[in-house]
Amino acid sequence: MIVVVSLGGSILTPPDASTLKAYADVIRQASADHKLIVVAGGGRTAREYIKVVRELGADETTCDYHGIDATRMNARLLVTALGPDAYPAIPVDYEEVRRHMQCGKTVVMGGTSPGHTTDAVAAMTAEHVRADLFVNITSADGVYTADPKTDKNAKKLDRITPRELVEIVAQTEMKAGPTTVMDILAAKIIERCGMPTVVVNGDDPKNLLRAIDGTHNGTVIKA
Ligand code: UTP
Repeated sequence: MIVVVSLGGSILTPPDASTLKAYADVIRQASADHKLIVVAGGGRTAREYIKVVRELGADETTCDYHGIDATRMNARLLVTALGPDAYPAIPVDYEEVRRHMQCGKTVVMGGTSPGHTTDAVAAMTAEHVRADLFVNITSADGVYTADPKTDKNAKKLDRITPRELVEIVAQTEMKAGPTTVMDILAAKIIERCGMPTVVVNGDDPKNLLRAIDGTHNGTVIKA
């Protein structure tokens, strides 16, 4: 299978060698049977840079460019952790991902262009390379009916359709700002290409393997 993984910045920051090694190990294990493309998020590093840049009076597009730089720093850390098992350069657009994939190694990337997050990058990559599965590894343990941090009646969903995902994300984005499980563009792309998607918690790196073999306890998004 071709598997595209969105590895949330909350897992990669602050940077920590043991987490990077643990993720490199599970990525290597998964790569024995599957072709992997991993998209790294910016997490705390991105937020810190964006805060400073905003204080300097920069426009939001400039803030996004600094966020993208942070995602690429995390991507580079993962490339270093994977050593010879990763393609050594970080693609900056979707066509480059396809070219790098030809070498058979794991491709790791960060953001692409302003205006969205790495979840959308991962969803677009999954669409472009015709992936079999999109795995979103995040700080939540799945998709909830509402934001569980602010709504105690929020329930975790085991399985939803892409349309339901779009509706949930649109609703929580309006209320909760930047802490939704996935950005709206990512949800829309999953819907338009019908990409089978799994959302799992990243505290345990082995959840990547469970997401691929179907033994996870996150959320499945499928038509
Ligand atoms: P992230 O994908 O990390 O966003 O990109 P996030 O919402 O903080 O998600 P987590 O917590 O990592 O999972 C960080 C920032 O970089 C910019 C955006 O400003 C985003 O908020 N960015 C990233 C882009 O503008 N374009 C991209 O393709 C990627």
